[in-house]
Amino acid sequence: MGIISLVTGMPGASGFGSASTAEQVTEGVDASNLTAIVTGGAGGIGTETVRVLALRGAHVIIAARNLDAANDAKQLILKDNAAARVDILKLDLSSLKSIRAFVDNFNAMDLPLNILINNAGVMFCPYQLSQDGIEMQFATNHLGHFHLTNLLLEKMKQTAGVTGIEGRIVNLSSIAHLHTYEEGIRFDGINDQAGYSDKKAYGQSKLSNILHANELSRRFKGAATTCYVALHPSLKGQTGKYFLDCNEFKASPLARDEGLAKKLWDFSNKLINSAQQR
Ligand SMILES: NC(=O)c1ccc[n+]([C@@H]2O[C@H](COP(=O)([O-])OP(=O)(O)OC[C@H]3O[C@@H](n4cnc5c(N)ncnc54)[C@H](OP(=O)(O)O)[C@@H]3O)[C@@H](O)[C@H]2O)c1
Repeated sequence: MGIISLVTGMPGASGFGSASTAEQVTEGVDASNLTAIVTGGAGGIGTETVRVLALRGAHVIIAARNLDAANDAKQLILKDNAAARVDILKLDLSSLKSIRAFVDNFNAMDLPLNILINNAGVMFCPYQLSQDGIEMQFATNHLGHFHLTNLLLEKMKQTAGVTGIEGRIVNLSSIAHLHTYEEGIRFDGINDQAGYSDKKAYGQSKLSNILHANELSRRFKGAATTCYVALHPSLKGQTGKYFLDCNEFKASPLARDEGLAKKLWDFSNKLINSAQQR
């Protein structure tokens, strides 16, 4: 995927490009045997993702902090597709407690889990701390999804074992991962207000989404773009890759740094442990 495809929408090697729709890239895919969770499915890209996954037959759980917005999204989807299987569960990714409660509620539904789409995100917010005392964009976009993924991994592995269908975890990053702090991740001052930049903090969280996906794929081998990556049969067996407009894209050198991915993994676990002990 090069800059010309990016700007013009010309298809890349996959046959799809930035002008392709989620419906086009999943044409002919039967997802009726799949269950998916989409975080932030009550708005934006998340709602379109839920709509198209449900259109292809998947049972989709919208994980949302705003239940009214999630219900509106669900009703809109049902209007065009009365057979859509869409459920809603409360999730606030900026709260470790809410993430735990979401997973307990999801497990109580006794459903399989094939696909986890880590889509929710906050963008460019002024400096603020989450309930757990962690800088908000890092807490929501990365740490919340990191914790959620860890808590759901066992369920995904079980599902893959029973069904023989490989699970997929999709982290929504952004080209903004290129624009982060000089050191990549501010391990020594993740919560520092001094030097805080709303843009760089967003870039840092999006870089973290890629590093998380890379480290995840290294640790758990086998266990419009979102729908392509979640459903397209041509991607079977592929993992730890960054896709832009349905084509593999070379992420920044920092995003490809294995040492940094491992360091972020350990750092994230430490942050969660210390926040939970408070
Ligand atoms: N739009 C783009 O051009 C673009 C480009 C590259 C990457 N992305 C990435 O794509 C993803 C979706 O972007 P979008 O444009 O669809 O954003 P959006 O329209 O702002 O939607 C974000 C969704 O995330 C939810 N959310 C925010 N904070 C949350 C929290 N603490 N707990 C649970 N849900 C929360 C929002 O819910 P509320 O309604 O409650 O706020 C909303 O449903 C993001 O990860 C973004 O970084 C977007």
